[in-house]
Amino acid sequence: APARPKAHDLLVWYDRHRRVLPWRALPGEAPDPYRIWLSEVMLQQTTIAAVKPYFAKFLGLFPDVWALAAAPEESVMAAWAGLGYYSRARNLHACAKAVAAAGAFPDTEEGLRKLPGIGAYTAGAIAAIAFDRQAAAVDGNVERVVTRLFAIETVIPAARPEIRSLTQALVPADRPGDFAQAVMDLGSTICTPKRPACALCPWMAPCRARGLGLQETFPRKLKA
Ligand code: ADE
Repeated sequence: APARPKAHDLLVWYDRHRRVLPWRALPGEAPDPYRIWLSEVMLQQTTIAAVKPYFAKFLGLFPDVWALAAAPEESVMAAWAGLGYYSRARNLHACAKAVAAAGAFPDTEEGLRKLPGIGAYTAGAIAAIAFDRQAAAVDGNVERVVTRLFAIETVIPAARPEIRSLTQALVPADRPGDFAQAVMDLGSTICTPKRPACALCPWMAPCRARGLGLQETFPRKLKA
């Protein structure tokens, strides 16, 4: 049987190949929870390329959570216009007000989960990236990486609880925020839906799907 995937091998890859993104702290910089939260909400149903100009516009108009909380609803909705899924903008504003009233973002997954617009994925992402909590952030990209690593035969969505616990078990105590972002980067640049670049993958050796030559066939999906 192949060895267990090691977080360390992925982090070594990430240190070399990490994408530079406007909301991402540079190595050695402290992450800003406001920027992490804003980017994760925008990225929920929208690509990185489409999010970038809106992220810049929001930071210009609303530089911190207090500015966003104090802004009129119409100006938040107007700034969001074009990004789609407008309930995200309403929840964003409600969330900013709750955080401003509390004085700071909650720094745990459980606390974050209670805020408007923050589901399991977003709570895990913010807890890990902004607060270095050992939290798992499982989105579609991460589901693809993990179902391939372990050759999970169960279909999505039934496999989700298993994917979540396997992902959680991979999260290292050291650099959990970088680990979360590294898995996201791996999923979007190497472990792609079609023709994944396995030869460049830091987890090629422990990947069971790759070992079977079946990498493109995961995740298993229920036939429509
Ligand atoms: N997709 C969602 N959140 C992301 C992040 N923080 N980095 C890269 N891709 C992402």
